This record gives sequence, structure tokens and C-alpha cells, in this order.
Amino acid sequence: MTHDQNASGTSAVSRRKVLAGAGVLATSAAMAGMAQAQSATTADGAAPQNAGRVALVTGSSRGIGAATARQLGRDGYRVIVNCVVNRDLAAEVAQEIEASGSQAIWRQADVRDPAAVRALFDAGEEAFGGIDVVVANAGVMNLAPFAEMSDEDVRHMIDVNILGSFHTLREAARRVRDGGRIFALSSTITRFRTETYGPYAASKMAQELYATVLAKELAGRNISVNAIAPGVVNTTLFTDGKTEEQIAAFVQRTPHGRLGQPEDIANVISLLCSGNAHWVNGQVVYANGGIA
Ligand SMILES: NC(=O)c1ccc[n+]([C@@H]2O[C@H](COP(=O)([O-])OP(=O)(O)OC[C@H]3O[C@@H](n4cnc5c(N)ncnc54)[C@H](OP(=O)(O)O)[C@@H]3O)[C@@H](O)[C@H]2O)c1
Repeated sequence: MTHDQNASGTSAVSRRKVLAGAGVLATSAAMAGMAQAQSATTADGAAPQNAGRVALVTGSSRGIGAATARQLGRDGYRVIVNCVVNRDLAAEVAQEIEASGSQAIWRQADVRDPAAVRALFDAGEEAFGGIDVVVANAGVMNLAPFAEMSDEDVRHMIDVNILGSFHTLREAARRVRDGGRIFALSSTITRFRTETYGPYAASKMAQELYATVLAKELAGRNISVNAIAPGVVNTTLFTDGKTEEQIAAFVQRTPHGRLGQPEDIANVISLLCSGNAHWVNGQVVYANGGIA
């Protein structure tokens, strides 16, 4: 059987005519958008297909965001790095991306401030001419049982995780070029639902809702929008306030027998940026070594 025939032997050409007439087949413009979405790296590490493509990662001065910014840089993207306080770390990440052969700028911008987020996107567009990938990664976590959670701590998570991510995704919806990718960082806690994680888990569930709704709103532009739900990743967000025994207990429950590293999550995002992952859209992708 050739590619022009289906199992029943019907000519695929005639089927195409029928589908095109019914408006079912993609237009040539949309197909061009798909071609633009191709972004695989080559076996020797070079990434010619991403030349000219641009990625913006919020909260990329350290942790998962920094690893993602570095990986997308290695994939050939020009990268906009972002921090809220750790300017030195953001500058270092940008330098590392430049050293790996791509281009990068860094900007301090508090995602809680919509004007600052707009300025961050403006800076990226001015430097590189447009934006193709946005990773709404900036996040904070405060843990306490409901009875002990302070107003300040819960407000901080709402402001950074729910509002900050919204500000980022709103700009992404307005500005990401056709054929692009958008990610929101959820967490495996939306499955675990453990004590002390209530407001944090709620703020992460918001990311899943954001991504699945936005994927639908951007219909027709060949932009895939997904939530990434990491688990037990070795960053200060995860390890701070936990004893060695508590961390060891997480490792023991993880089939891969270790904590995740920020690079594990960066690799998944890189994979989903490739043209071959275009069809993964409006999903929650759990990346947690199998713990849940
Ligand atoms: N680690 C895990 O196990 C895990 C699991 C599931 C989900 N996640 C999610 O993954 C994302 C990254 O987590 P991580 O573990 O990499 O955290 P992290 O190491 O604590 O890094 C947090 C990053 O967010 C930035 N940030 C914080 N508040 C910000 C604000 N208001 N505006 C702009 N940037 C801000 C920080 O910038 P500064 O350096 O300037 O402070 C830093 O770059 C978060 O959304 C988190 O909820 C993490």
C-alpha cells in the first residue's frame, strides 16, 4: 500500500478533494506554520532548524528555568532570561548561553507586575525580532497546614503563581509567533494532594487549566500549549525546609531511584519544542521519574 491509498484502496487524492472541500484539511498557510514549528537538534548538537527562533523563560536565573534556558540555547534558540532578584545569576545564565554558541539577553522583571512582564516581552522582541517559545516557569512555594498558613504566604503564591503566570501567558497569547510553543509549570502535587500543600497545589492546578484553555483559544495558529508537571526536582524550591530523611523518602518512592535534576525537566520542554511533538497540545505532561 502506498501513501496515496488507504486500507480499503480508496484513492487518498480523491479523499483529500472531499476533505478540502469540506474545509477539513489544513490550509497551505497553516501547513507553513507547521513547517516553521520544526525544531529538532541534529545528532552532532547543532541546531540549524531553530536559527532565528526565540525563547523566553520566566524565572530562569536558577533551578528548572535556568536549565531550560540553557537547553533551549543549546537547541539553537536565542533566549530571554529573567529573574526577580538574582541579577548576577541571570547574567551568568545568559553568558553561558552565549558561550554555548547562541545569543541571550537577561532582564529583571517581577511577573507579579503586568507592566514589567510587557516590558520583558518588549525587550525580547526588540533584541531578537519576535518570540516563538514562552515558558511560564517563575514560581514560589510556601508550605503549612491550613490552620497555620499566613495571609502573606498564601498571597505571595497567588500573586506569583496564579497572577504572575497569567500575566506571562496573556502576553504569550498576544505575541508568540504562529507555529510556536507555550508552557505553564504545574506540579505533580496536583496528583499527590499532600498535607501542607493546599494553596500551592491550587496555584499549580491553575497552570493546568490555563494551558488547556489557552490551547483551544489559539486554535488555527499552530501553537501548542501544554502544562508541565514536574515532581521532586532538586532545586531550593523543593529541598528548602525538608530534612534529609524526608528527601530520602521521596527518592525511595521514585522508581528511577533519585531526585529529578532541573535538566530532566528542561529536556522534556526541549522535546516538546521539536516539530515531532507538535501534536501534543492542551495536555498536562507529568515529568517526575514515575513517582505518581
Ligand atoms: N522543584 C520542584 O520539585 C518542582 C516541582 C514541580 C513544579 N515546580 C515548578 O517549577 C517552577 C520552577 O521551580 P524551581 O524548583 O526551579 O524553583 P527555584 O529554583 O526556586 O527558582 C525559582 C525561579 O523563579 C524566579 N522567580 C520567583 N519569583 C519571581 C517573580 N515574582 N518574578 C519573576 N521571577 C520570579 C526566581 O528568580 P530569582 O532567582 O531572581 O529569585 C527563580 O529564577 C515553579 O513554577 C515550580 O512551582 C518545581
